[in-house]
Amino acid sequence: MPVLPDLRKRAVTARELMDDPDCDPQLLARTFEQFQGVNRLVAGWKGTYRERIRPLLSATTPSTLIDVGCGGGDIARDLARWARRDGLLLEVTGIDPDPRAIAAATRAPNPDGVTFLTLDSSALVDRAFRFDFVISNHVLHHLSPQQLTDLLIDCELLCRGLSIHSDIRRSRLAYLEYWAATLVLFRGSFVRQDGLTSIRRSYTTPELRVAARREWNVESQAPFRNLLTYAASAAARETEPSGTAD
Ligand SMILES: C[S@@+](CC[C@H](N)C(=O)[O-])C[C@H]1O[C@@H](n2cnc3c(N)ncnc32)[C@H](O)[C@@H]1O
Repeated sequence: MPVLPDLRKRAVTARELMDDPDCDPQLLARTFEQFQGVNRLVAGWKGTYRERIRPLLSATTPSTLIDVGCGGGDIARDLARWARRDGLLLEVTGIDPDPRAIAAATRAPNPDGVTFLTLDSSALVDRAFRFDFVISNHVLHHLSPQQLTDLLIDCELLCRGLSIHSDIRRSRLAYLEYWAATLVLFRGSFVRQDGLTSIRRSYTTPELRVAARREWNVESQAPFRNLLTYAASAAARETEPSGTAD
């Protein structure tokens, strides 16, 4: 059994190994590859797509979606594939300020033509882009309070429909289950150690409610997730879409 760290408070000073610009490039590349398996196991995007995104898509009018902090791009690619299989039109873009992430995203097969760009959200705000959906996965817990506020403001400005951020919800059980599951899974990368650090850095649902801007809604999602969502105003929904950022 692990020695459990104190999970009563966020470990705001703990740092993920992958955030070190000088970390081992091979371990990092393998980390981005393995995110696909981790995300499918823990992040629940299939259900989030089915319940919150798919009902708003159309077979005749294209919608646009941006994945902010897309990492290796697996969630962007999954969303594009699920929409295509459902016969629905969705143009997907993934952005990440880390060129190593975008290199990993562009190395993977991309049959649905997701666009990947080395950018952060503020660069798209500066260019007045708008998307029907603005999403992220496992980004919130990486950010300082000021970075979180800046990201949420950017997302409000970029979003003409719905913004959805999915992240880990901190708990002792989440830590214990991840510790046990990764004893054998996801070797040869930062996935185990950074995952445990990420759980320690992540928010409880009440903490995220306090940290988020007022216009945002926080829900807990089983088993160990928070969903932070924002619905654009009717006025924003009437703006022209301009969301293929290439
Ligand atoms: C743990 S990774 C998650 C990657 C991917 N979303 C996933 O779930 O597999 C966090 C990513 O967030 C990116 N990131 C960190 N701060 C960011 C910011 N302010 N804006 C956009 N992306 C950011 C990092 O570059 C990193 O690739």
